[in-house]
Amino acid sequence: MAAERIDGKAFAARLRDRVGAQATEFARAAGRKPGLAVVLVGEDPASQVYVRSKGKATLEAQMNGFEHRLDAAVGQDELLALVETLNGDPAVDGILVQLPLPSHIDEQAVIAAIHPDKDVDGFHVINAGRLAVGQPGFVPCTPLGCMMLLTDRLGDLSGLEAVVIGRSNIVGKPMAQLLLDANATVTIAHSRTKDLPDVVRRADIVVAAVGRPEMVKADWLKPGATVVDVGINRLPPVEGESRGRLVGDVDYGAASEVAGAITPVPGGVGPMTIAVLLRNTLVAAYRNQGLELPEGAL
Ligand code: GUN
Repeated sequence: MAAERIDGKAFAARLRDRVGAQATEFARAAGRKPGLAVVLVGEDPASQVYVRSKGKATLEAQMNGFEHRLDAAVGQDELLALVETLNGDPAVDGILVQLPLPSHIDEQAVIAAIHPDKDVDGFHVINAGRLAVGQPGFVPCTPLGCMMLLTDRLGDLSGLEAVVIGRSNIVGKPMAQLLLDANATVTIAHSRTKDLPDVVRRADIVVAAVGRPEMVKADWLKPGATVVDVGINRLPPVEGESRGRLVGDVDYGAASEVAGAITPVPGGVGPMTIAVLLRNTLVAAYRNQGLELPEGAL
């Protein structure tokens, strides 16, 4: 039987609507809109696309967007000075510095400069530490979005076997923490894992976040497994195409004959990332303003 297609795009649209409605409530109570500052350094085409769509989504969610575009040759000191200004600006609740940064800039130094209470990406070590010990903080948007899709489909994850493929600070590690907090039994697999197909075959939940096109094959999956595909890879164009197809880290067509449910690429995890960014910005606004976000509002 074909797997259920997990419609991340529709889920994200509903989340954005709720965030927008709550942002309107916030503005009524606080006398100002929530504010998100996005910093883009240089001209990376993919980053430009992301930043543009973040800006549009911010306005649609009844928030203020502050965009700062800096030349690729900007010095690290100047970038750090901008982050300091944004840290001190009461109109700014969330700060996102688009990655990757040019190679002459130390990314970790820039992330460390963002005030943890404005770190809506959840990349600061303080927020990584809060997640690790179970304190409230900001959780990176992509894994939190994956978690929302998983709990929406599966409800209680207690005792389920979860395999996360990929160990990045941005997706793999926080994803594993979230699954662990939800009482799943978690394995983190990576490029040195032995017998990866056998490891994945144990999983009730597979989260693929490696950035290798269609690496996870149908015969790696336990029948009925729930598969979340974080990969966004563009294949080389074949004859008659101007650009190659976008594919995930999972061989979607074949995998959807075995899985119980699976996220497509595009239209799965991707749209969740921006929706969760807006959600995190709203949460930041309530906290920074000393207001209580109503229970169940999101
Ligand atoms: N580059 C690609 N994805 C992201 C993201 O979620 N946050 C930031 N800051 N940069 C990115």
